[in-house]
Amino acid sequence: MHAQAKPVLLNTPPTKHPKLLAWVAQVAALTKPDCIYWCDGSDSEYARLCRELVNAGTFRKLNPALRPDSYLAWSDPTDVARVEDRTFICSETKQDAGPTNNWTAPAEMRATLNGLFDGSMRGRTMYVVPFSMGPLGSHIAHIGIEISDSAYVAVNMKLMTRMGQKVLDVLGEDGEFVPCLHSVGAPLAQGQKDVAWPSNKEHKYIVHFPETREIWSYGSGYGGNALLGKKCFALRIASVMGKQQGWLAEHMLILGVKTPEGNKHYVTAAFPSACGKTNFAMMIPPTPFKEAGWEVTTVGDDIAWIKPGADGKMYAINPEAGFFGVAPGTSYETNPNCMESLKANVIFTNVALTPEGDVWWEGMTNTPPAHLTDWQGKSWTPASGRPAAHANARFTVAATSCPSLDSQWDNPNGVPISAMIFGGRRSTTVPLVIEANNWNEGVYMAATLGSETTAAIVGQVGVVRRDPFAMLAFCGYNMSDYFSHWLSVGASVAHAPTLYCVNWFRKGDDGKFIWPGFGDNMRVLNWIIGRIEGKASANDTPLGAIPRYTDLDWTGLSFQTPQFEAITAISQSHWKQELALHNELLTKLSHNLPTALRARYEALTTAL
Ligand code: OXD
Ligand code: MN
Repeated sequence: MHAQAKPVLLNTPPTKHPKLLAWVAQVAALTKPDCIYWCDGSDSEYARLCRELVNAGTFRKLNPALRPDSYLAWSDPTDVARVEDRTFICSETKQDAGPTNNWTAPAEMRATLNGLFDGSMRGRTMYVVPFSMGPLGSHIAHIGIEISDSAYVAVNMKLMTRMGQKVLDVLGEDGEFVPCLHSVGAPLAQGQKDVAWPSNKEHKYIVHFPETREIWSYGSGYGGNALLGKKCFALRIASVMGKQQGWLAEHMLILGVKTPEGNKHYVTAAFPSACGKTNFAMMIPPTPFKEAGWEVTTVGDDIAWIKPGADGKMYAINPEAGFFGVAPGTSYETNPNCMESLKANVIFTNVALTPEGDVWWEGMTNTPPAHLTDWQGKSWTPASGRPAAHANARFTVAATSCPSLDSQWDNPNGVPISAMIFGGRRSTTVPLVIEANNWNEGVYMAATLGSETTAAIVGQVGVVRRDPFAMLAFCGYNMSDYFSHWLSVGASVAHAPTLYCVNWFRKGDDGKFIWPGFGDNMRVLNWIIGRIEGKASANDTPLGAIPRYTDLDWTGLSFQTPQFEAITAISQSHWKQELALHNELLTKLSHNLPTALRARYEALTTAL
């Protein structure tokens, strides 16, 4: 069919937006798809595309008695995660991308991409996917249009965003949108049979043009490389928009906490990838807290867009409408709310298949099933000596499936933020929790955030990588300018949230985690809320305010003073090493580094 010059229009373009129509025509002329289809976002469209994905061999329908309306996809083994080394910020100048981003001159990158995209959709359908990041019509939300040659992308976007005709209705004829172009980079010659997971093994490019707010993604069909609303738009491009417009686009979960007195607080928390953000966002308080009336609710698990409000508070929305979470390690012990969310209407990618037609992953149950088909379609038993699910296997599910979803999650005005938490994975050095004395000291704390690398990041495991604000891989411009932006946003609001640093991952001499984690993180959250309400006390240290043993509520947990000392102690020798690493980071980022951060470093060095 694709020998013809013009692609077949599978439906009439449901918009009169001249700029959008022109862009779609221009992309079709370049990529030369067989057909063009405009997604309406309906349930029937979702069901039809899923059926087509089953027929194509990309999806397997799971046993409807065990996992209703759910599907399993296995990706190509070379296309399993975000490709940070193939991710580019192509600003006009290298300096604007900064030392933490890959950069290529925009003209050179455009020439490369135009070559790769030329005919890249041959033999395929080009899907036009209108989506809103944030509640439809919210003053904090923004619209994107993803063009993709992957039906897998289209159905994932239905779960992850507000998607379809309703977005075009809000866009009208002259609304602004971020163009997001995606191709798996696997054109089909006439008569060529497709593979279950098309991708390009040689070339992968995840490219952002910040000045023109464009995203071009080539060669991968996986997660953040392909679902362009998430990391590419909601973090990299949005961080640039936020800098220009006076707001923040952050790698943060948002949760609600209701106290026994009925006070409601909202808290955001930034952690690097694979530090348990989804578990924290869906936390269930320990029984004594629950019985006393504490409640934790979920607004988002990965990204927050935060704007100063007219009342001087900061208001946050979750720009996403679903969760694209890491499956391994998720269980009824670690995250019951998440497990409940995954009962039906889920897309699983790279988990294992049970003989009954259900899914399994490492950590889901204590005892693995006797026999499985692993994520590469091979027979697996517990004696196989390899994981049955890929370490970065994922679930995609709509937020509305989550039992702990906050009643305000879809509020177009966002939720007012009382506290912001920054955390990393540190086996030593960093105490359980620190409260910054003021905004600028908190910005220093977040800017120097470090985390030990896990298997999720290519390279040495267990080394401390500096990950400022957990945004290392997601900041769309120069990191030092980003620090300045944080300082100025904080100074511009009358009621800035209080900033905290947490570390759930400190280990004892036996090499085991000291802190029980999960639901017991409520004890730290309880102290934070107490601080905000002016009820909880603390000890002043050079790093900030740290709770004493008696400042935390230990009801229902046997956790003694020596253990508490072991997770809160500030070791002079460890901090000497830590400050040397801070200095390394600040030196790397010295161009445009705000003087407030250098001054805080000097003050800490003297005090410690
Ligand atoms: C994610 C990540 O997928 O941070 O959320 O890697
Ligand atoms: Mn993330």
